[in-house]
Amino acid sequence: MEKLLEEKRQGEVLKTRIISKNSKKLYIESFGCAMNFSDSEIVASILSNNGYNTTTTIEEAELILINTCSIRDKAEQTVRKRLEKYNALKRDNPKMKVGVLGCMAERLKHKFLEQEKIVDLVVGPDAYKDLPNLLAEVDQGRDAINVLLSKDETYGDVSPVRLNSNGVSAFISITRGCDNMCTFCVVPFTRGRERSRDPKSIIDELNDLAKKNFKEITLLGQNVDSYLWYGGGLKKDLAKASEIQKASSIGFAKLLEMCAVAQPKMRIRFSTSNPQDMSIDVIKVMSKYENICNYIHLPVQSGSNSILKAMNRQHTREEYIDLIKSIKKIIPDCTISHDMIVGFPNETEEDHKQTISLMNEVTYLFGYMFKYSERPGTLAERKLEDNVDEQIKKRRLQEIVDLQQKHSLIRTKEFLNKKVEVLIDKQSKKSDNYWAGRTEHNKVVVFPKENYKIGDFVNVLTEQCTSATLIGKAIEYSKNN
Ligand code: 5AD
Ligand code: SF4
Repeated sequence: MEKLLEEKRQGEVLKTRIISKNSKKLYIESFGCAMNFSDSEIVASILSNNGYNTTTTIEEAELILINTCSIRDKAEQTVRKRLEKYNALKRDNPKMKVGVLGCMAERLKHKFLEQEKIVDLVVGPDAYKDLPNLLAEVDQGRDAINVLLSKDETYGDVSPVRLNSNGVSAFISITRGCDNMCTFCVVPFTRGRERSRDPKSIIDELNDLAKKNFKEITLLGQNVDSYLWYGGGLKKDLAKASEIQKASSIGFAKLLEMCAVAQPKMRIRFSTSNPQDMSIDVIKVMSKYENICNYIHLPVQSGSNSILKAMNRQHTREEYIDLIKSIKKIIPDCTISHDMIVGFPNETEEDHKQTISLMNEVTYLFGYMFKYSERPGTLAERKLEDNVDEQIKKRRLQEIVDLQQKHSLIRTKEFLNKKVEVLIDKQSKKSDNYWAGRTEHNKVVVFPKENYKIGDFVNVLTEQCTSATLIGKAIEYSKNN
């Protein structure tokens, strides 16, 4: 039903990584967005310096960490079920400790530790460097908690361990937090104010990944286009910076260019973009460098101006369409995907029709679609009634999911009977004899393996398709190989 990348990967467990001097076992499970998966790799790195190796066998773990998501109620319910399972295991193994990380830690700290007493440790997204101290507290028999949000923590100095990786693509986190305050969204409360990471540490990480033979990176942030480095600190404190700092500041377009130039063979992606912050400069940089993928994830959330306003989205439908026109003018083959919410408070049938008409106007390559889920503490929760009936939400969601499927098929067919360059990243789920990979336009392509291997760039002739996948046969290694 809901096409949700995050939930497809729910509960992914970090693979085993052995440092021989380490004797303790950590089991870490991640839920939610790519940022959480990336954070878990930072946590594993911090704890690998403190005696922990990761394990995929939960029963042998001394420490279980669950990196949680609060974005919708459903995500929180999934985590609650996992915590029940951990507690059952703890009853058999009293030495086992359980900790909650991430967005729910921030939101439900007191409930977990004090009222329900179901966890030993609660650590918010900006406090992972405090984990060794907090674990020492737990060893002393005390509950440990740190959910402080930071002005400058970006973990730029922690080198993530790529435990979850296929060895081909990796995330590089470039900003943390969000200042946008969309009225439905809990992220600004759980992850705090927006801050950007030192570009030097970003380029160092990129170069290191290239050295390790990675082929594709995704620059990651809640709002990447708002990236701004002026020497550290919150984006909203820019006014306090010196004139020299302001003059030498680096925005997202510049950072993107620096990455493209530093590693011209590395495929570069970014996520997520916010329409009001995406500049023409970014689009121009994309068009200038071949290694930046011609694909943009551009959430809009609704096609109705009155809903966009109530969501505090800071752009109109017309401005969004103008942005897409600019993108297509500068990069005619650029593919675009979306996030959409149905059933926001007071959404009428007419508003819903506006969403449908926007989708028809853009014909997105794909999208992630959700029913509105009221989140405690958000402006929408405080000021607006969650008044769209559940059955209506379901029906509207189904309508846009069905429409998107039609659009995906139309867009996918545009790549049919063509030579497309594919970066192989895994085996096809449907057949052991086929590789799966993606084009720069973020289209999944499957084809017979022959002698190719994961990490190869291959030119594939596409012959058939479903709405989500192109099927073809490899012709040759591409020039990028
Ligand atoms: N209810 C439903 N969907 C939400 N999203 C964020 N907050 C909510 C909410 N309260 C969706 C938005 C966002 C994506 C990451 O999750 O579409 O872009
Ligand atoms: Fe949430 Fe809006 Fe920020 Fe995205 S841009 S994280 S939806 S507040």
